[in-house]
Amino acid sequence: MNCVILFLLVACFWTTSVSSDPDDPLLVELAQGKLRGRDNGNFYSYESIPYAEAPTGDLRFEAPQPYSHRWTGIFNATTPPVFCLQWNEFRDRLMGVEDCLTVSIYKPKNSSRTSFPVLVFIHGGAFMFGSAVASGHDSIMRGGNLIVVKISYRLGPLGFASTGDKELPGNNGLKDQRLALRWIRQNIASFGGMPENILVIGHSAGGASVHLQLLHEEFGQFARAAVSVSGNALNPWVVQEGGRGRAFELGRKVGCGQAENSAELKSCLKSKPAVEIVAAVPSFFVLPYVPFSLFGPVVEPADTPEAFFTQQPRDLIKSGKVAQVPWLVTHTAEDGVYNAAQLLQQNPRTNETWIEELNDRWFDWVPYLLFYRDSIKTIIEMDEFSRKLRQQYLGNRKFSVENYWDLQRMFTDILFRNSVRDVLDLYREYGKRPVYSYVYDNPSEFGAGQQISNRTDVYFGTAHGDDILLIFDIAFLRPVIRPDEAIISGKFIKMLEDFALSNSEALAFGDCDFQNNVNSTQYQLLRITRSGCKNEQHNQFP
Ligand SMILES: *[C@@H]1O[C@H](CO)[C@@H](O)[C@H](O)[C@H]1NC(C)=O
Ligand SMILES: *[C@@H]1O[C@H](CO)[C@@H](O)[C@H](O)[C@H]1NC(C)=O
Ligand SMILES: *[C@@H]1O[C@H](CO)[C@@H](O)[C@H](O)[C@H]1NC(C)=O
Ligand SMILES: *[C@@H]1O[C@H](CO)[C@@H](O)[C@H](O)[C@H]1NC(C)=O
Ligand SMILES: *[C@@H]1O[C@H](CO)[C@@H](O)[C@H](O)[C@H]1NC(C)=O
Repeated sequence: MNCVILFLLVACFWTTSVSSDPDDPLLVELAQGKLRGRDNGNFYSYESIPYAEAPTGDLRFEAPQPYSHRWTGIFNATTPPVFCLQWNEFRDRLMGVEDCLTVSIYKPKNSSRTSFPVLVFIHGGAFMFGSAVASGHDSIMRGGNLIVVKISYRLGPLGFASTGDKELPGNNGLKDQRLALRWIRQNIASFGGMPENILVIGHSAGGASVHLQLLHEEFGQFARAAVSVSGNALNPWVVQEGGRGRAFELGRKVGCGQAENSAELKSCLKSKPAVEIVAAVPSFFVLPYVPFSLFGPVVEPADTPEAFFTQQPRDLIKSGKVAQVPWLVTHTAEDGVYNAAQLLQQNPRTNETWIEELNDRWFDWVPYLLFYRDSIKTIIEMDEFSRKLRQQYLGNRKFSVENYWDLQRMFTDILFRNSVRDVLDLYREYGKRPVYSYVYDNPSEFGAGQQISNRTDVYFGTAHGDDILLIFDIAFLRPVIRPDEAIISGKFIKMLEDFALSNSEALAFGDCDFQNNVNSTQYQLLRITRSGCKNEQHNQFP
């Protein structure tokens, strides 16, 4: 026998026998075998654990398959999660890999606890980009009371392309998330997590994902509570129309132009290198990363086997056949920063800011900027809507850096705020479990507005992400944390811990008890500011 193999067998046997040491917290035994995590000082990590078969080759564009391999030897769970293959907005390039379906688990060291409530995080990025590593866990680990689990899911065309029929019904990225949630429910106890006390939270497209997961009865088995930060299923950029057209356009861009039907298209797209498919993304843009959610969730045809959803979220909520779990849905005072601030950059071809160019291109660009390109059916109606928006927010003034604030308000309303109002309207009438809401109203020193525009001379207000970065902190995105923000961070983390543990479904932030919107005649909103929190009741959504 080859002595290298012999050596490996012996080494493997040896590590396996050592591993049965019950006092080794880095070693975890699961149905698929044993894995070893890493000691990071004040917490343990178990990273990049596969929950699905690699979605490559013939499994590309298919619903995820549960991971079915048994590990021989000990799985090395010390590699940070990779990015799922994507065209990244902020780096403006291709990055990541196709084989990316993993969960990563972070567990504080706390000798006074034997088990922990669990916070599952679904990252944002317009369903197009982002990653599990792009959100920090240091504050939560220091707190010592919560296990954090981060999910990776397929993005962009690989996660959300849809031909609108049963060949490629779509929503594979959401199906990935659901499989990951099922995996977590089944396995988290082996890591010291409390399977009955899981809270699922997401930001932006991750928040919308959490809401879409909630629209499934099965989610009630995965989670005790859910939180959607600055993103819900009714945002106009979430559930998309025109998916079939884009799938065939994608095919033409990568050399599958001959495909006559969905089966041929899918089979041709499967034969192409994944990087070619994703590298086609920027060719769809009318402005830099506009439309920002190009391939996203779709309503699948009614006959789809194991569909993720086959009705509009609005109708699902009305039907009541959804998970019965308390939910917190939030926004920030100026969530629209994320999409508006990039208009302060210059068009490199003209050296004018995009906002100035809007004066000539408003009717061409705004249907893409505000996501009604596919939902309004005729050009006349579309132009009429564009005209009204402009009139409502700018009157007869021109688009300019001076009038930026009004443009940003329009983006906040259309892309984020109005759908919080709409979703609360629905749940006030049809909800069966408490629905809470806060508005975060406390600008950071350096948030998405300054980063995206690279300007500090414009006032942005409380941006998209200003609150979530106080929970999942990342030093490079948030160099300055003020004392008031440090206090808020502690209160947020305590709020999430209590929500995961609560038997009463009650929720509090610091001294403020959230008021339930379900059955309420008024909107019940908690306003979180620099100086604290305040309950507000409104007849008109503020
Ligand atoms: C586990 O993976 C890490 C990172 O890839 C590597 O540095 C380390 O040597 C590996 N450990 C073992 C025991 O193979
Ligand atoms: C550890 O667990 C105890 C008991 O649940 C808790 O009171 C404490 O806040 C936790 N954190 C740290 C850092 O000790
Ligand atoms: C834009 O500015 C750059 C650098 O100042 C200059 O080289 C270029 O000619 C300008 N382009 C136009 C179209 O004005
Ligand atoms: C809403 O009102 C109905 C009817 O009074 C009641 O059965 C239900 O428990 C209430 N729901 C919530 C979440 O308060
Ligand atoms: C941001 O602005 C500064 C000065 O205003 C400039 O030096 C820098 O190159 C800009 N960065 C980017 C990425 O445009």
